[in-house]
Amino acid sequence: MAEPLLQLSGVHTHIGPYHILHGVDFSIPASQLTVLLGRNGAGKTTTLRTIMGLWQASSGMIRFDGRDITKTSTPDIARAGIGYVPESMAIFTDLTVRENIVLAARSGPVEPARLDWMLGLFPALKRFWNLPAGNLSGGQKQMLAIARAIAEPRRLLLIDEPTKGLAPVMVRSMIEAFKALKASGETILLVEQNFYAASALGDNVIVMDDGRIVHSGAMREMVEDKTLQQRLLGLSLDAHQ
Ligand SMILES: Nc1ncnc2c1ncn2[C@@H]1O[C@H](COP(=O)(O)OP(=O)(O)OP(=O)(O)O)[C@@H](O)[C@H]1O
Ligand SMILES: [Mg+2]
Repeated sequence: MAEPLLQLSGVHTHIGPYHILHGVDFSIPASQLTVLLGRNGAGKTTTLRTIMGLWQASSGMIRFDGRDITKTSTPDIARAGIGYVPESMAIFTDLTVRENIVLAARSGPVEPARLDWMLGLFPALKRFWNLPAGNLSGGQKQMLAIARAIAEPRRLLLIDEPTKGLAPVMVRSMIEAFKALKASGETILLVEQNFYAASALGDNVIVMDDGRIVHSGAMREMVEDKTLQQRLLGLSLDAHQ
């Protein structure tokens, strides 16, 4: 089997005096979408922040593309090709959609073919191209945040709850956009509490509880196994019903 693109082994994270991650182990295969589930406070966001180096792992190892990035700085992790869309979308509300996207590409102008591809994924952004991003709806802001993360080619995308609080119609267009991202061969680690979206998109699923991984496997296996679903989704979704 090919080496996974990202691998966490025995990762512990402390935030101040609090011990949040208790030995997290999982791997992310290239060109697949892996969903990370878990109830509120399970440690999903802390896991993404630890991968990005925004929290420093207190022990354990994070390998990306064959390289140990456990102690690498956040800018260097970003430069190595990991894009991160945090829960609170990182967009500039006073700037236009266009300016948000232009500023997201650090290495120069966004390649025209790439821009066409991005606007094909999120057509609403084209409609509001010259409007301040603050005027967009919640779902459109979320789409802009994702578009900013892919303004440059990335090896891996970490995306935290993009459908949170969105109306069903917006959830459906988000699912379509992620399907297109998958079809382009992107590798994605997606925190997604909406099981409809998670099961429509995930190749693999990881479930966390209390700072630990309690399940990892194929999404299809979870979708087909109602007992497993009840056991794990009780854990992962009870706080979201
Ligand atoms: N800055 C912080 N200071 C102290 N504790 C924190 C901090 N950030 C997170 N925690 C704690 O770490 C635990 C995991 O939080 P985290 O945000 O990773 O959970 P989550 O799975 O993303 O939850 P949610 O579904 O609500 O987004 C929680 O108990 C939380 O209170
Ligand atoms: Mg979170």
